Amino acid sequence: MKVKFQGKEINIRRIGILTGGGDCAGHNAVIVGLLRRISQANLTLPADEKMELVGLLEGWKSLTRDPDKEMDRIVKPLALLDIEETFTVAGTILKSSRTNLFSKENIEKKLPEKAMANLKKLNIDCLAVLGGDDTLGAAGKLGQQYIFPMFGAPKTMDNDVYGTEMTYGFESAVEEAVHFIENIRTTAESHNRCFVVELLGRSAGWVALWAGIAGGAEVTLLPEENLNLDNVVKQVEHAISKKQHCIVVVSEGVRLFDTRYPEAVNKRHKEMLDAVKADPKYALVKARDEMPKKKDSFGNEQLGGIGEYIFAILEKHTKGFEYRYQNCGHAIRGGVAHVMDRILGLRYGDAIFQFMKDGKFGVYPGLEADKIVARNLLEVKGGRFVPQDHQLFQMRNAVDYY
Ligand code: F6P
Repeated sequence: MKVKFQGKEINIRRIGILTGGGDCAGHNAVIVGLLRRISQANLTLPADEKMELVGLLEGWKSLTRDPDKEMDRIVKPLALLDIEETFTVAGTILKSSRTNLFSKENIEKKLPEKAMANLKKLNIDCLAVLGGDDTLGAAGKLGQQYIFPMFGAPKTMDNDVYGTEMTYGFESAVEEAVHFIENIRTTAESHNRCFVVELLGRSAGWVALWAGIAGGAEVTLLPEENLNLDNVVKQVEHAISKKQHCIVVVSEGVRLFDTRYPEAVNKRHKEMLDAVKADPKYALVKARDEMPKKKDSFGNEQLGGIGEYIFAILEKHTKGFEYRYQNCGHAIRGGVAHVMDRILGLRYGDAIFQFMKDGKFGVYPGLEADKIVARNLLEVKGGRFVPQDHQLFQMRNAVDYY
């Protein structure tokens, strides 16, 4: 298809597409949404303008490989009738990785240059990059540095990408988390227990907030607020006194200690944690606490396990009822793509095609009041947190109502 790029006419024939970062529901829907429009356009385009969509495997990693030696690990041909039905499932048919082209080490290894050279070798005229802020940020840089036609689409189950009211992947993760909480509730009720349920979401509490409310959690703890475990103990005791069971949803980004917290709170949390660590029953919590913290290639801290601390502290500092801890982990971002993510993914794929047709490059689609808007890839960032004046923030703890 002939379009205008940087004031010149270019003929886009081969469009590459890759998925980076953590997988989620909706990736396949974006691919299908874009491929549908390409196939439709091909019905009327002259032969020398017909297009094809080529999948690049494992995110940016594909473009760091050697096409002469391992082509089958780099590209995956995409035919609409072969892949169309995948938009209903989560995950990504293109596989994913957290390869950071622009890490210090990879810049030294000249991987951005290599990626660009590979795009040329593969005859790719334009690239669609599906991912969170890290993956999209790399697309923006590469597109700018090499003046290459680039698009993005904002995914992440965390729903924390700037420039859109919703990322795809979020709603399905919430549905799965709610299903999990509902299953926990019947067993919690049957045994008069308190369950601590930890949910992914990195340092944004959207998943925990929605799932906590929709799943009827008595207490929901978010990274955006100051944790005070003495208050949580009171909330749990109150819930138990009224209902004999309780569900505490904890977002994985919640911290026991933080410079934001009053000093007295950090001190009190330390006291509580020390009491846990001194008890051989919680040897695993002690071991976890002493383990070195890991980071991914983008420098993001690998989270996970805060729920276990909170479970142990609650169990240690309250009496007379039983506790259990469950970490939903990655299961909530897998499985089926729920309706909202099917639709949003298909919309984003459709929008990418429209941007291309309109000669609007270097952008990703965002949702604003149910309309698609074009956002600049160079402005993408994460950290779209739950504002404390959000209506849902005030509604998050069922226990506050009785
Ligand atoms: O993609 C976002 C996310 O699911 C976060 O919620 C979570 O902290 C992280 O990915 C987990 O990363 P990984 O899949 O690399 O363990």
